[in-house]
Amino acid sequence: MAMSDDLKAIEKQVQEGLRKALTPDELEAIRVSVLGRKGRLTQLMHMMGKVPPEERPAMGKMANQVRAQVTAAIEKRRVEISKTVMQERFNQESIDVTLPGRVRTLGSEHLISQVREEIEDIFCGLGYTVEDGPLVETTYYNFTALNAPEDHPSRSSKDTFYVVDNAPEGKTQHVLGESDVLLRTQTSGVQIHVMEKQKPPIYMICPGTVFRPDTADANHLPQFTQVEGLVVDKGITFGDLKGTLDYFLHEIFGKDRATRYRPHFFPFTEPSCEVDVSCGVCGGKGCRFCKYTGWLEILGCGMVDPNVFKYVGIDPEEYSGFAFGIGVERVAALRYNLPDLRMLMTGDERFLKQF
Ligand code: DAH
Repeated sequence: MAMSDDLKAIEKQVQEGLRKALTPDELEAIRVSVLGRKGRLTQLMHMMGKVPPEERPAMGKMANQVRAQVTAAIEKRRVEISKTVMQERFNQESIDVTLPGRVRTLGSEHLISQVREEIEDIFCGLGYTVEDGPLVETTYYNFTALNAPEDHPSRSSKDTFYVVDNAPEGKTQHVLGESDVLLRTQTSGVQIHVMEKQKPPIYMICPGTVFRPDTADANHLPQFTQVEGLVVDKGITFGDLKGTLDYFLHEIFGKDRATRYRPHFFPFTEPSCEVDVSCGVCGGKGCRFCKYTGWLEILGCGMVDPNVFKYVGIDPEEYSGFAFGIGVERVAALRYNLPDLRMLMTGDERFLKQF
């Protein structure tokens, strides 16, 4: 009886196949090869019509049994395989909750930001506002309105990064042949912006980045931070300047540090000074850090030049004022006795974590 042999063969083939099948795909392939539309069992059942009528009931019954058995066997194997697959995933993806966690190291505020904020706090305590200004400036705000003459050396491209050369064709708009748009070399230009917008009394500081074509070395950075200060009011004197800056320097460096005001020149202030604090390393006796002078230069300042007031329409007969500019990196270096300003730029955590 050919058909019953075929049915047995199918059953055997399925049993063997199932034993070897390890994945859902392999299992599905077996199912399709037997029970699918073109599967062996399906096709066999289509041939039932050719079986002699007297054998048909028995053969039909047998075929149905085989189909039920095969179907059940495939289902059983399917459950086994999915358990194994699941178990494998568990093994791969399980985590050991008893392992110690990884500690995320938190960053901290950069020393420059810390010092800048400290300076802001001191002046806010004195009633000053904190202003902001553009990093990309014009020669008008960076030089001209600050009373810098056309041939002032700081206007040359040796000392200033120019962005756009918009000098009219055939003409050098500025004596040294530079363009009008630049990266600000100082925060002093913010004085002009503020006085254009605000009427006195003005008590403001402006922290911000400035740029100069300097090669980075122990004492220079091509990009650094300044805090500008400006006071304009009635009856402001050099005594106010000195009292304010002495207070500020003692807050920042400690009350034991002496200050010294040395005459200097800045185009936008008259008279002008550079201010030194006594060396924190040697206490003023003289050492390598202060180049054996006992003093460290820390800021520039002076009484606002009447010419500057004229540019912004403030009457120098009615108002007077003082201004100052502090280098933030330098304050940090002097306060923590940093031997090299570049340490502030490297992002080396071993250095930054100390503050
Ligand atoms: N702008 C000056 C500089 O970059 C610093 C300075 C000096 C600012 C005197 C001032 C000032 O406001 O009065 O070197």
